[in-house]
Amino acid sequence: MSDLNAEILKRRTFGIISHPDAGKTTLTEKFLLFGGAIQVAGAIKAKKASRHATSDFMEIEKQRGISVATSVMGFEYNNRKINILDTPGHKDFCEDTYRTLTAVDSVIMVIDSTKGVETQTFKLMEVCRMRDTPIITFINKMDREGMSPIELLDNIESSLKIQVCPLSWPIGSGKAFKGVYNIYSKELVLYKPHQKQDAHDTVKITDLNDPKLVDLIGEDATNQLKDDMELVEVYPPFDLNAYLTGTITPVFFGSALNNFGVKELLDCFIDIAPPPKNRATTHGTIEPIQPKFSGFIFKIHANIDPKHRDRIAFLRICSGTFERQKKYFHVRSEKQIRSVNPTAFMAQSKTVIDEAFPGDIIGLHDTGNLKIGDTLTEGDAFHFTGIPSFSPEIFKTVKNLDPMKSKQLKKGLEQLSEEGVAQLFYKEIDGQPMIGTVGVLQFDVIQYRLEHEYQAKCRFEPLNYTKACWITSEKDEVMSDFIRRRKSQIAKDKDGHWVFLTETRWSLEREIKEQEDIDFHFTSESSH
Ligand code: G4P
Repeated sequence: MSDLNAEILKRRTFGIISHPDAGKTTLTEKFLLFGGAIQVAGAIKAKKASRHATSDFMEIEKQRGISVATSVMGFEYNNRKINILDTPGHKDFCEDTYRTLTAVDSVIMVIDSTKGVETQTFKLMEVCRMRDTPIITFINKMDREGMSPIELLDNIESSLKIQVCPLSWPIGSGKAFKGVYNIYSKELVLYKPHQKQDAHDTVKITDLNDPKLVDLIGEDATNQLKDDMELVEVYPPFDLNAYLTGTITPVFFGSALNNFGVKELLDCFIDIAPPPKNRATTHGTIEPIQPKFSGFIFKIHANIDPKHRDRIAFLRICSGTFERQKKYFHVRSEKQIRSVNPTAFMAQSKTVIDEAFPGDIIGLHDTGNLKIGDTLTEGDAFHFTGIPSFSPEIFKTVKNLDPMKSKQLKKGLEQLSEEGVAQLFYKEIDGQPMIGTVGVLQFDVIQYRLEHEYQAKCRFEPLNYTKACWITSEKDEVMSDFIRRRKSQIAKDKDGHWVFLTETRWSLEREIKEQEDIDFHFTSESSH
């Protein structure tokens, strides 16, 4: 038997959040190269290429084999077991992207130095904030002319409402980019485009008056660095606890494409990022060290090829040791289940595993019994909390195209929503079904699956809403009055909870201000 405590302390499970094209894929690949998990650059890129080349979701589906393999990428580095969870961000941006963040212990945020904080990062950050997830920031593409470091830091602080703490500092940018000064380790790291840094490029400089500095980067850059280092003092010093509670984000600068600054980032990450944390449940907190196994499902990968109806449920292990031969308790159905060939994810490959530990993600083959949010245990009847539905942003009503198949349509919609493909609501005004998603691709997926798996045909009609909030109130009268007055903007979710729909964020903010006795929730869980 393995030593559970040692296995837990070894693990770092995290996600990379960024806006598309900021450099997430490139950075992931460089991490994997450091870990020796892949041999050549480009291995992960293959998946990206297909995403760019087509807007056809069937093409994307063809890549699903690769996409499952890159959903979780595990590798070893400096005696740590690192699990990177993919957060789909291009056309495949959907609720899974948010939900994946419920299964990580920390996050690396990639920002494009030429663009600053962009919309998708902003949204993902909101999800991190719900769980006070620790975040390390990597400002990428320093080899391009971008915003100044101070502008970038201000931009992060003001738009993401998190304090920054630079742990490295760039010397110039674009064509004049000379390297970074690593404030964390007091080392100058010289930049060489397209080359893997070697030991000679890193020089220990504890005092900026060291004449070596002028020799290496010239007088102007030295003076600039000295001025900048004085400025940096306005930022708070690095405080591990503030990072671990999500109040500050340490910042690194570099260029993923040139493999520059990536090793520093990774080394700091394994130093400070938290091992698997305690998790909240309906019966109190579960510590990873607790010997009894427990975990939850945060994603289900359905194969839409009708010939291969296999699904893979992604389970995050929260406590104890998972053993292949054991039966586990599926809390929702109150049944014991045994998984056939549970799969571990190592970069690019899937292997059947015999045991796995907290922080690990395993794939369970499933024929439709498992749902997102389900808890598996060694017999205890608690549920993990914190895996909610997230407020959707794109809404369409569903029109049945074949009246003979209305039952199939209803069943299909319900099952797909249970699976987490999209959220299903019923409008209060006419009881009509309405679908809400966070990504556009989901509608194509639903239509296709309804037709092929449920023989139901439908068409979607767009609605102007851009935000749905779950609403609750302690005052029943206020609630029923609000529902009556705003009937056209009210719906119920699949569990019968009230939902309020708005056309603009501005009008939602106005309602939140005006309706003092009504609580507006951005996830389903905070509402009940
Ligand atoms: P993503 O996963 O966040 O969407 O971004 P990805 O890594 O695919 O990077 C997006 C584009 O930015 C890619 O160029 C990539 O090569 C480039 N890139 C990433 N890091 C850096 C960097 O440090 N400096 C510069 N200058 N560019 C960088 P592309 O042309 O879209 O793709 P490709 O043809 O290079 O694969």
